[in-house]
Amino acid sequence: MSEPATAPGSEGADIHTTAGKLADLRRRIDEATHAGSARAVEKQHAKGKLTARERIELLLDEGSFVELDEFARHRSTSFGMEKNRPYGDGVVTGYGTVDGRTVAVFSQDFTVLGGSLGEVFGQKIMKVMDFALKTGCPVVGINDSGGARIQEGVMALGMYGEIFRRNTHASGVIPQISLVVGPCAGGAVYSPAITDFTVMVDRTSHMFITGPDVIKTVTGEDVGFEELGGARTHNATSGVAHHLAGDEKEAIEYVKALLSYLPSNNLSEPPSYPEEADLEVSDADLELDVLIPDSANQPYDMHTAVEHVLDDGEFLETQALFAPNMITGFGRVEGHPVGVVANQPMQFAGCLDIDASEKAARFVRTCDAFNIPVLTFVDVPGFLPGVDQEYGGIIRRGAKLIYAYAEATVPLITVITRKAFGGAYDVMGSKHLGADLNLAWPTAQIAVMGAQGAVNVLHRGALAAASSDEEREELRAKLVTDYEDALFNPYTAAERGYVDAVILPSETRRHVVRGLRALRDKREALPPKKHGNIPL
Ligand code: HXC
Repeated sequence: MSEPATAPGSEGADIHTTAGKLADLRRRIDEATHAGSARAVEKQHAKGKLTARERIELLLDEGSFVELDEFARHRSTSFGMEKNRPYGDGVVTGYGTVDGRTVAVFSQDFTVLGGSLGEVFGQKIMKVMDFALKTGCPVVGINDSGGARIQEGVMALGMYGEIFRRNTHASGVIPQISLVVGPCAGGAVYSPAITDFTVMVDRTSHMFITGPDVIKTVTGEDVGFEELGGARTHNATSGVAHHLAGDEKEAIEYVKALLSYLPSNNLSEPPSYPEEADLEVSDADLELDVLIPDSANQPYDMHTAVEHVLDDGEFLETQALFAPNMITGFGRVEGHPVGVVANQPMQFAGCLDIDASEKAARFVRTCDAFNIPVLTFVDVPGFLPGVDQEYGGIIRRGAKLIYAYAEATVPLITVITRKAFGGAYDVMGSKHLGADLNLAWPTAQIAVMGAQGAVNVLHRGALAAASSDEEREELRAKLVTDYEDALFNPYTAAERGYVDAVILPSETRRHVVRGLRALRDKREALPPKKHGNIPL
């Protein structure tokens, strides 16, 4: 389709003059930036949503956005599409800076063709992803779309496949973050799913493979959009999302915070603000000396230990609502980013289950891919027993966490605060899986199992022979105490070098600071291979 010599809207300016051509460009830019109708923008705002450009403006440093393919438009002639060819084709793409560092971005524009993805829309996203991969900068994808553009059929499906392939190739090379701020349905969900982090907004974002209507037809189940694929569901239940934001502004702030801990690519270091730590034990450090309750069954909040070790107690938690028996997130030590993995005794006594294992495994791999040391805090009574867990594949899915630690070559420091029982001792960043520094508090209990279980196995005969219930319980209590006195300590492990040092809790930060300083130039290589075969 050829362009008219004088584009509508620039009437009066002669297109054959330089001034006319400049006026024509300005008119086209204005048309492109207002591609969505006023009514569509109003509808978008009425839903509490921002427009594609407003989101980019909030994400990037002021005035830094450079748009690409502003004038790209579809060439489809199906279903009268030739009469509706908005500039940009429903997605705004380009690059800019966040805290001065280059970030590529695409922002789907629901006010234009419902943000639906057609051939040109897909090509624009592919181009900006290729740009990011070539230049080694993160990509932030802002998703708000009706999905595959129905009129463009298989071209739309093809473009999704191309995007998935690029997501996969970019995985572990450049950070990829997805903001889901509207509908994201069908196969379209798989692009965010392959990226490193997905952030959703309460009551605005929806992700699902098949919607409520299809589910009703096929399985007869009655479920609403929110319950099926809302932000809360994906944060608390499915684990698809990493953060539940109250509104879009908060979601964008979270993305910026994530970026501040991540390098631009796998060959560069994460941003740091080096500041020498004071190694004197402070009053705040001393608070850790009274953190662990005398009773082994009494919980305490592992966040306290984590925050005492990080700079200024600042901790950016990821997947806070999913598998809360495992804590993951980012912080800094002496200004350098670290990833934290920690059992949480306040939830299911901190035991490992399928969700916790996968959550931690994915996080450790993210840190390892992006040169971020991992700091692990251990208080784990073992794996969660249960038929559901066994049928659900705790064997192959728990194995992921072993795999993740064992293949990690970034600095690994592990602190055992209390329980480290059974297989879970091995799994949680043990020396045997390759941790560089393993520290234990004097309250550590490193053993094959808890005292009750052990006594039942070791002394079944003696307990059965007791002449009365009273005598049996007395004997059991004595045997439990004997077992705890013999094995519930960190010193057997320390004798063998399985822990490098038993330290006062109040000295944890200074040990971690010194350890990370020593490990900063750590270099470790695994045997060359095409890729490993992590149990999936
Ligand atoms: C073409 C679409 C569209 C689509 C929305 N629009 N989705 N156009 N293809 N997929 C258009 C609408 O026709 C409308 O145009 C405008 O966008 C706004 O949509 P509304 O329906 O008015 O908005 P709303 O009421 O907010 O509803 C939003 C919605 C609904 C729930 C997303 O639009 C919807 O159900 N769309 C279809 C979703 C879908 O089934 N997509 C395919 C999923 S499968 P006008 O001109 O009236 O403004 C998929 C496969 C991917 O994506 C495969 C990857 C491998």
